[in-house]
Amino acid sequence: MKVQWTPELATGSAEIDGQHKELFILIDSLLSAFERGIVSREEVERVIGFLGDYVVLHFATEEKHMTGYFYANRSAHMAQHAQFVRNFGRLREQMHAEGVSPELAAATKELCVDWLVNHIKFSDRALGMFLKQRLQLNSGERIAESKITHAPLSVKREGHGS
Ligand SMILES: [Fe+2]
Repeated sequence: MKVQWTPELATGSAEIDGQHKELFILIDSLLSAFERGIVSREEVERVIGFLGDYVVLHFATEEKHMTGYFYANRSAHMAQHAQFVRNFGRLREQMHAEGVSPELAAATKELCVDWLVNHIKFSDRALGMFLKQRLQLNSGERIAESKITHAPLSVKREGHGS
């Protein structure tokens, strides 16, 4: 099974999309390791460790933008991230204690693929759209500001000339 990022998951933010692509690569290597079934517990724990760290970094990136731009749905979105981190931590502990069972592999797939795809489609795409609008608005404000700062100068120059 190949798990990969598809264009329909694009959020409009190059930074967020880049991290999502990286997440799918890590998830794919984890699920492929489960499928091979001959991997050591160490290898599985190493990949899960990478994935867990990357998820934390990725959520922190999104949350930094949500806070920085006063995103209205910030609390609800962050609660979804916290829920993922809790569930992922539980799976990781279970895997550490019992090794990989078919049930655990299925639960990992459900969380890392089904949940993530759903989260990206609805929550992250809404965030991406909001960030795009904010950035466009900010660049519009900068253009307007530069016009305001130049206007009195040109008036002044005209005044001096007469
Ligand atoms: Fe998110």
